[in-house]
Amino acid sequence: MAQRTKRIPGARPFLKWAGGKSQLLGEFCKYLPAGNLKNKTITRYVEPFLGGGAVFFYLSRRFSFEQCTVCDVNEELILTYRVIRKSLHHLIGELETLESAYRAKNERQKELYYYEIRDAFNRVRPIINFQYYNARWIERAAQIIFLNHTCYNGLFRVNRNGGFNVPFGRYRNPEILSVDNLVEVAALLESTRIIRGDFTQCRKYVDDQTFVYFDPPYRPLNVTSSFTSYSRNGFSENDQRRLAKLFKELDRKGATIMLSNSDPGNEKPGDSFFDDLYDGYTIRRVPAKRMINCNGARRGTVNELLITNYGTKGA
Ligand SMILES: C[S@@+](CC[C@H](N)C(=O)[O-])C[C@H]1O[C@@H](n2cnc3c(N)ncnc32)[C@H](O)[C@@H]1O
Repeated sequence: MAQRTKRIPGARPFLKWAGGKSQLLGEFCKYLPAGNLKNKTITRYVEPFLGGGAVFFYLSRRFSFEQCTVCDVNEELILTYRVIRKSLHHLIGELETLESAYRAKNERQKELYYYEIRDAFNRVRPIINFQYYNARWIERAAQIIFLNHTCYNGLFRVNRNGGFNVPFGRYRNPEILSVDNLVEVAALLESTRIIRGDFTQCRKYVDDQTFVYFDPPYRPLNVTSSFTSYSRNGFSENDQRRLAKLFKELDRKGATIMLSNSDPGNEKPGDSFFDDLYDGYTIRRVPAKRMINCNGARRGTVNELLITNYGTKGA
């Protein structure tokens, strides 16, 4: 059974994210390099597949690092993190406007309002310059947070053209704006390097005092699980191999590394893709509660792979 985590003040994820690890923290924390985190022989933290940042926020509430580097290929996501860091008060103002307009409406009007914001968000996309910070980013970050909290299942899913296509979610009272948390997140991000791009960009920030956590997109085993969730570009088996190469390179540099992925054995017993790729490292299978496909009968406890280049240094 998942261990309950003690509530510690500090920043928490502000977006719901497909593949988010909040539910798994109780299991993961047993296998962190806790000794080295506590005695500060680890001074840096690098997370190349940030998403909603469940592990980043979890660690930042418990340990202090001299330097954190986070990265994700999803430009809308990274835009949002950067806006929180740079224009928090302006962002809060935008979110207050969205939230009060939403709350003043009845159910039917809320749904129409949701689609109005979603359409506006998609219409503007072609003229957004994701490269350089600009005023449009603030409204966009507010829309992302709003849509993420009011859409069905709290997903961020886009179509081939990058259009956000998740339908309205019928929530009684969704939390759209949490000022206290955004203030905490902004304070944490102030000293965090935020990179938009491929995971390999992180390599130069890793040394022998760095803890690296890799949480790549799952390797799809069938058509139903290969949903276009985070971005238009999927993560292929070849990308999984590129990642294993980087894992080994950083291992040789002396970094402390943890990587998670879904266990292919959940669906295809005997599939040894990751066992082969990470042969020689510590490979654990930890229980995870999540949906492995659209068939409700197959929901329940499945395993998550946890691969580390250190042994049994548990918390
Ligand atoms: C499983 S999710 C991470 C979830 C995160 N740990 C959390 O708790 O929310 C994987 C993330 O990898 C990102 N991603 C996909 N391909 C990538 C790449 N080539 N380089 C960096 N990030 C990538 C996706 O945008 C997604 O946010």
